[in-house]
Amino acid sequence: MDKLIIEGAHKLQGEVRISGAKNAALPLIAATLLTPGWHVIHNVPDLRDTRTILALLETLGAEWKKEGTTLLINTDSLNKFEASYDLVKTMRASILVLGPLLARLGKARVSLPGGCAIGARPIDFHLQGLNNMGANLALEDGYVEASVVTRLMGGTVYFDIPSVTGTENILMAAVLAKGETVIKNAAREPEVTNLVDMLTSMGARIKGRDSDRLIIRGVKSLKPAVVTTIPDRIETGTYLIAVGTAGGEANVTHCNPAHLPALLEKLRASGLSIKESGDSILVSRQARVQSIDIKTQPYPGFPTDLQAQLMSLMSLANGLSVVSETIFENRFMHVAELKRMGAEIKINGNSAIIKGIEQLKGARVMATDLRASASLVVAGLAARGVTEISRIYHLERGYEDMVGKLQALGAKVHKEKE
Ligand code: EPU
Repeated sequence: MDKLIIEGAHKLQGEVRISGAKNAALPLIAATLLTPGWHVIHNVPDLRDTRTILALLETLGAEWKKEGTTLLINTDSLNKFEASYDLVKTMRASILVLGPLLARLGKARVSLPGGCAIGARPIDFHLQGLNNMGANLALEDGYVEASVVTRLMGGTVYFDIPSVTGTENILMAAVLAKGETVIKNAAREPEVTNLVDMLTSMGARIKGRDSDRLIIRGVKSLKPAVVTTIPDRIETGTYLIAVGTAGGEANVTHCNPAHLPALLEKLRASGLSIKESGDSILVSRQARVQSIDIKTQPYPGFPTDLQAQLMSLMSLANGLSVVSETIFENRFMHVAELKRMGAEIKINGNSAIIKGIEQLKGARVMATDLRASASLVVAGLAARGVTEISRIYHLERGYEDMVGKLQALGAKVHKEKE
């Protein structure tokens, strides 16, 4: 296992290029299962999670090759319909193959994901939705076994909470179903819209793009896709926040500022200078940041995937801030680690109250999940002394070449074997 060593308290300076979004690439890759042919996906990040979903597609009989950041996937000869426990346990998003396998092959067997470091994370919405579309579902030996007699039927699916992968699974199932499917209270995250655009370009008929009500009229067949993965808004936000903690100035390029409405507003309110220009954001810190309160919400609200990193920034702010997590019930695992670095944080139910201090101190800390790890990195960049972060395989799931990108910004960071 690798660990990350950061010598902190050096300002960041320069340019950082944002990669394609993990949470967009995963459903786009899963959607290639819907129809035979060579599919082309541009701007795919090289991450542990994208490699995992490609390994899963291979076990189903797909072939793929990569040319630079362009991924070519052929799904002519699917000969299996099972996502095994071994793959699903390393990446919950493997559940994304359920909808497309059921739509194309009429059957799927997918290991039930367990709980994870950020909460219980059930998949009942996915299953209820498919059930409303006529799928027969059974739970056998820890697997969801799904089948349809002839073809999925259109149906109405309502989500109590707008689930991102739930919306994506039902969308993929619905595009080849007989009749009309309506998804009410659908997730509106830009990653869902990226998938809607891919499916539409394949011949799917979808109304309500970008809204919480998606209407899908099923078609009999689709053609292979050519699609570009949107920029990673969470990676973008992480580098903006890193400049906030460490200080300095950076130009964050190849991103989409329109996908970060809540974060940019909050960072401006904290006193950072944020200048948007086309697909770049110039961020700089002139003075100590001021405290701000945030509450995580479905898009376009403040993203839960940036909550931990924002908390690191608030640990250094002038004043008291309150960070409330409303999406996942257990997403404060970073708090104990940040406290090891001197942060003053109290948890009260689903809120954390942070009293900003002038300086964090380097410490040995442990990464517990992907975004918690990112919060320790942004804290370590600001801390006086050396921060050692163990179990950084979590980071490699979702940040392409983070060490190289930070080094290019002048950070004193490297990897070592544990
Ligand atoms: N929920 C249910 N039942 C379901 C599905 C969801 O109760 O069947 C609940 C969840 O427990 C949670 C809420 O609904 O409380 C929203 O969860 P959602 O389904 O939207 O989460 P997800 O689709 O499993 C995606 C991202 C996460 C991101 C969340 C929220 C992917 C592959 N993952 O997860 O990304 O935090 O949406 O925005 O798109 C990450 O990248 O670090 C990450 C965890």
